[in-house]
Amino acid sequence: MKKVLIIDDDIAMGEMCKELLKSKGYISDVSASGKDAVEKLAIDGAYSIVLTDLVMPEMDGIEVLKKIKQQNPHIAVVVMTSYGTITNAVEAMKLGAADYVTKPFKRDELIVVIEKILQLQRLEGEVDRLRSELGEKYTFKNIIGESPKIKKIFEIISDVSNTEANILIQGETGTGKELVARAIHYDSVRKNYPFVKVDCAALTETLLESELFGHEKGAFTGAIKDRVGRFRTADGGTIFLDEIGNIPITVQAKLLRVLQDCEFEAVGSDKPVKVDVRIIAATNADLEENVEKGIFRRDLFYRLNVIRIFLPPLRERIDDISILASHFLSIYSKKNRKKVDRISSEALNNLTSYLWPGNVRELENIIERAVILCKGNVIEPVDIPLYQGKTVSPMELSGKPLQELIDQVERQIIINTLKLTDSDKEKAAKILQISRAGLYNKLSKHKIGEL
Ligand SMILES: Nc1ncnc2c1ncn2[C@@H]1O[C@H](COP(=O)(O)OP(=O)(O)OP(=O)(O)O)[C@@H](O)[C@H]1O
Ligand SMILES: [Mg+2]
Repeated sequence: MKKVLIIDDDIAMGEMCKELLKSKGYISDVSASGKDAVEKLAIDGAYSIVLTDLVMPEMDGIEVLKKIKQQNPHIAVVVMTSYGTITNAVEAMKLGAADYVTKPFKRDELIVVIEKILQLQRLEGEVDRLRSELGEKYTFKNIIGESPKIKKIFEIISDVSNTEANILIQGETGTGKELVARAIHYDSVRKNYPFVKVDCAALTETLLESELFGHEKGAFTGAIKDRVGRFRTADGGTIFLDEIGNIPITVQAKLLRVLQDCEFEAVGSDKPVKVDVRIIAATNADLEENVEKGIFRRDLFYRLNVIRIFLPPLRERIDDISILASHFLSIYSKKNRKKVDRISSEALNNLTSYLWPGNVRELENIIERAVILCKGNVIEPVDIPLYQGKTVSPMELSGKPLQELIDQVERQIIINTLKLTDSDKEKAAKILQISRAGLYNKLSKHKIGEL
């Protein structure tokens, strides 16, 4: 139960306030001097409001207020003033008092002030709780993976989170770009400010510009009232510009200015607005190629690309498939209240030999579906219909170290051959013209189990 501390050198007045609060169900204590009150506050943490007289001998109300704001800044201080000392009340408000009442006050006057403060404190508590719940949801502990490639990403995230550097996240669809962007925000000092996502691909040129920077009423047809842009909403926090590769050249110019001067004007306005926003951009396009083609500004690219995080496609971190699958299995079996314990080793093999064009998102969808459809409590191959026709396309076979690409193709060839021979290794080795031992080596190197 939250308590009120009343401070007044006039004992009768203090007791009167106490009775008044008690009649409304609030518990309070009375101190006859500022010094006594400060001592009480130091040992009892249950006070959430202090109601103090202003004019007192020794330590006056203003001094009490200053002390409290230093030592217990979360306590709301209400000052009681007499008619002649109203200027002191103004000073008290400047020093951080929550409110004031003028003596003599009516019963209800004091109660209304107290209740307003308590309600505000409850709301603040609720906001804090929701915020930490959100932060919890997006910490990078929720990014699953143990492969060397993903571990490298964890390192980069913890190195860059608390810097002010702009970040460019590149990766195929479904590799976790948004997940990483949120993890960076909630791991940074900006975490108590907004994380604002803008999907740049979904909007036309005019709409994107007004979405980002806001507009004044009448700036264009359809602008029927003022609009605060996303940059202003994100002030103090992080803006996540998704699909940055698609933004039109005119918007690029305006964006460049925000990156350079933290300044812009709303559409149809000539008043510059200053903001403090960190930019995280994401794309699955090759921005460098867009720069070469002349559709993406080189200077903007350099500004965005202070730190680049490249999220590898799932087929390049096969080690992670099994833990990701178990992770999603536990999420979706809970969510659907269905007891599914594990994935059979054959089913897992199918998962690890698939190329995952839709990456982690596709894996997540497949597992969700399998949990819902599976008959027993083990996921079997029939529960995971994968489109096996997909092989590596020449487009995907570039831009990586040669050995990595060769390994990828080799793995696929072995899997295909084993399928062809119904897992007869003798036959497979013959077709591939390698020794049985050689085949076994490759099976373990590529983490291919029984098919
Ligand atoms: N390493 C991971 N651990 C756990 N979940 C992941 C991981 N990577 C991705 N996911 C999940 O996969 C889904 C897709 O991730 P996300 O939306 O971040 O991808 P994206 O790269 O932004 O995709 P797109 O380019 O299509 O927008 C999300 O549900 C996300 O939670
Ligand atoms: Mg995304």
